[in-house]
Amino acid sequence: MVTSVIPVIAIDGPTASGKGTVAHRVADKLGFHYLDSGALYRLTALSAIRRGTDLNDEHALAKLAEHLQCSFQGGDIILSHENVTEAIRAEEVGNTASKIATFHAVRHALLGLQLGFRKAPGVVADGRDMGSVIFPNAVLKVFLTASVAARAERRYKQLIGKGISANMEDLLMDLQARDDRDTNRTIAPLVPAEGAHVLDTSNLTADEAVAQVLQWYAAIGK
Ligand code: CDP
Repeated sequence: MVTSVIPVIAIDGPTASGKGTVAHRVADKLGFHYLDSGALYRLTALSAIRRGTDLNDEHALAKLAEHLQCSFQGGDIILSHENVTEAIRAEEVGNTASKIATFHAVRHALLGLQLGFRKAPGVVADGRDMGSVIFPNAVLKVFLTASVAARAERRYKQLIGKGISANMEDLLMDLQARDDRDTNRTIAPLVPAEGAHVLDTSNLTADEAVAQVLQWYAAIGK
């Protein structure tokens, strides 16, 4: 199949909006591939932290991103033969990812890797700029959002569920800082792509959000 006709469902939104869960389930239901683009920024961040790379050195960070030795195996994420599925979820890694994601050269270095996920029969791509920059011709663009309070609570439960201690006030502050950075950066800022369906999930279960996205997808071309 020609790459450009392989359907892409782009699901973008702010941190802890539930896009990971929703995108994953939509991909499962449709038998599509799943691209967790945030994981690529997290992998670059983890590499940089471990190597002691200067987090202001755009060129060095882009080189790291360009040469990432990573693979996605089922639910596991492997970096240079090590399973880093849990390690990349640490808050420090997420915060560093959000900082290095402001660099044009880093975003550019991760472009090819992301486009490579577009494989038949289709892909659900989860991120910040899937519909606006990476896959502007996605057949369906969804912008998932939720109130700051709902998102902080979800993140809190997620961390506690994993046995990681968390503090609601710190989480709220981190979340707002990350929102600010993601929304106000000049390159690929977090905004609903043109033509995106905006879905506020503050009062929706994950199942309800999944059902809505599948309904929008089923309605395409009708
Ligand atoms: O889990 P959470 O939503 O907090 O973050 P993530 O999706 O794993 O992404 C981590 C960071 O990478 C985000 O805070 C963004 O700054 C950045 N990112 C991005 O700039 N563009 C993307 N397509 C995906 C993530």
